Amino acid sequence: MKSKTVYTCSECGHRQAKWSGKCPQCGAWSSFTEEVIEQKKGSLKLTKKAGAEMVKLSDVSAEAEYRMKTGIGELDRVLGGGIIPGSLMLVGGDPGIGKSTLMLQMCRKLMSFDPIYCTGEESLQQIKYRSLRLGEIPDDLLVIAETNIERIIESIRQSNSRIAIIDSIQSVYSEVVESTPGSVSQVRECASMLMTTAKKYNKAIFVIGHVTKEGMIAGPKILEHMVDTVLQFEGEKTYTYRILRALKNRYGSTNEIGIFDMAEKGLRELKNPSELFLADRKTEEAGVSIVAAIEGSRPILLEVQALVSSSGYSQSQRTANGIDNKRLQMIVAVLEKRLGIQFSQNDVFVNLAGGVYMSDPSVDLGIAAALVSSAKDISINTDTVIIGEIGLTGEVRSISQLEQRIKEAEKLGFKRILVPKSGIKNLSGKYKIKVVGVERIMEALSILLNESF
Ligand code: TYD
Ligand code: MG
Repeated sequence: MKSKTVYTCSECGHRQAKWSGKCPQCGAWSSFTEEVIEQKKGSLKLTKKAGAEMVKLSDVSAEAEYRMKTGIGELDRVLGGGIIPGSLMLVGGDPGIGKSTLMLQMCRKLMSFDPIYCTGEESLQQIKYRSLRLGEIPDDLLVIAETNIERIIESIRQSNSRIAIIDSIQSVYSEVVESTPGSVSQVRECASMLMTTAKKYNKAIFVIGHVTKEGMIAGPKILEHMVDTVLQFEGEKTYTYRILRALKNRYGSTNEIGIFDMAEKGLRELKNPSELFLADRKTEEAGVSIVAAIEGSRPILLEVQALVSSSGYSQSQRTANGIDNKRLQMIVAVLEKRLGIQFSQNDVFVNLAGGVYMSDPSVDLGIAAALVSSAKDISINTDTVIIGEIGLTGEVRSISQLEQRIKEAEKLGFKRILVPKSGIKNLSGKYKIKVVGVERIMEALSILLNESF
């Protein structure tokens, strides 16, 4: 065996012989780390080997469709209905966001599958304290405190467990790789060994991974390609709610999100997220509107806050929290050009309540309304929900899943909902909430602010 030094990009896994400041493949800066790899002699020669086994598709059992329910509705939905046996799943997120808590709580309802919780981050004692704090963690949960991946895999292989959790991929190491735990080659090797174990022995394995500052699954993107499912657990430090998303799912949709609340005794499912995001709604104030976005298959009602203030002599700012900044600029440009409302001397701030991020363009009209409401200092009736995408000519464009949003607004007690006109053809008399169709922003603003534009 010959060893050789290579430089590996910790973001995309690109390898090259020389160090460089910027990765030629993914463009990341200062991402190269030095690695020593051992090369097998003559490994490129074709040797005579036994062929791979061939089977007829009809002989393959269809057990793969079976899913193990975690009993946590929000998690099951994000997974696509439960855990597929033999799959490898990555659970990513910032340190302290609640990944270990989620995994430990998940074990509660999965005891019939004998889950094993392997920790390389905490001691057995710490796991014990945590489970006492969480309560309801069954006494016969199997726990391993170990960082050697070969030993961990051997224990998983020998046990009857159908589910194992590795906390975390950055803390484990393989004997066959020389670099330190957490390095690209260690992470890759350990993940690949776990993948083989999951497939070969039909055991579902969850791997916890910490996210780097840049928000990528650390250790790094190569992991995303290897695993079947990538779940991302996210949230703001200042809020107690947490959002679980599937960034990749070989066995389900990637649109679903699960919402939790981190409470005293661990994570609680939030079955009705709108109530959370509307919770601190106060009296009518200028610059505030309520929108109905769809995340995954669920409507979420939330508050948009806008502030339009004079920028004085400095250059005006456009700051968006919760939506793309470019989208805010577009909305401001449309309002300036089509409605003649000038923002050039103003700083413009937009915030979605609760620190959530929405990519659903149906929040456009609500944002426009909040901006004009703030600029004119006229408040919008708090009984009203506003939905619609804005087009560059100032039209209100139709959106998907309209009825679901209307139903949610009605359920939460709103009295009126503004929607794109094109969508309301067959809705007359169907709902108690007053559904108002609008074709242009101008029309919507006149209705909302009682002023003609
Ligand atoms: P943890 O699951 O350890 O995060 P991760 O594994 O992603 O690093 O969660 C740790 C945080 O959660 C910590 O800040 C304390 C908080 N927490 C609660 O608020 N309630 C609880 O019941 C538990 C167990 C943790
Ligand atoms: Mg942890």
